[in-house]
Amino acid sequence: MTMTSRVTVPEFRDRKGRGERLAVLTAYDATMARLLDRAGVDALLVGDSLGMVVLGHESTVPVTLDDMVHHTRAVVRGSTRALVIADMPFLSYQTGTGDAVRNAGRLIQEGGAAAVKLEGGRAVIDVVTRLVEVGIPVMGHLGLLPQSIHQLGGYRQQATEAEEARQLLADARALEAAGAFAIVLESIPVDLAAAVTAALRIPTIGIGAGPECDGQVLVSYDMLGLFDGFVPSFVRQYAHLATEVTDAARSYVADVRGRQFPSAPASVADVDRMRPARRSPGEGGAARRGSGEDER
Ligand code: KIV
Repeated sequence: MTMTSRVTVPEFRDRKGRGERLAVLTAYDATMARLLDRAGVDALLVGDSLGMVVLGHESTVPVTLDDMVHHTRAVVRGSTRALVIADMPFLSYQTGTGDAVRNAGRLIQEGGAAAVKLEGGRAVIDVVTRLVEVGIPVMGHLGLLPQSIHQLGGYRQQATEAEEARQLLADARALEAAGAFAIVLESIPVDLAAAVTAALRIPTIGIGAGPECDGQVLVSYDMLGLFDGFVPSFVRQYAHLATEVTDAARSYVADVRGRQFPSAPASVADVDRMRPARRSPGEGGAARRGSGEDER
């Protein structure tokens, strides 16, 4: 039996030294994780964008640690190869290092993630240092910080002024010194992202930060065209699944109403073939369990 092993945190970090670009996508459930994992992404980020694209919230702020643990477990169950990184939601690390260790610990121990991501630079450096000390790998996140949306007042490009750019570079250096293994750079000028990338040994993963980052991350629902709320201009849509899903559901509704689905059995023999499955649904479940599908 061939076993595929997961991308590890050191492997992910060391890709930068080898000049290999990193491809990261968000995932929130087992089915999508399986499909994205199969495509060869390096990491699946269980982002707190969960709140907006899956749970129907207006921002990431209402997402809870329980939400994140629950969805991280699903992503881990659905994937075999990608590094799984779980976002620490709002208020799960800002209240102190003790809370941060306990909460990050749950994402690792109960969720099965290999690493956590948290937002901020020098303001959270004690937390990053402590998590790394106790063996929890940390990915940083600078630039547009969605958990601070009420302070920012909107999802706008950040660090456009020289002083803000200097602060961001200092934050990035501090995160690297504290032991972060990578840093997400969200919605910052291309030149600044390039400068931060050149200044660090750890990889930068850009989202709306241009092509000079060591890797890219996109919200999977955005790049698949599944989320038809606001989609940022930097997103490239590789599919338009929202339209496909609605069209498929529309066809189904029409078929049911028009008595086109289910199809009428062609003969008595067809009806006979259907009977055993109908009489014993338990057998179907047992066969599925036996197939190993649920055991991953
Ligand atoms: O929550 C999220 O999906 C993220 C990515 C946009 C980087 O933080």
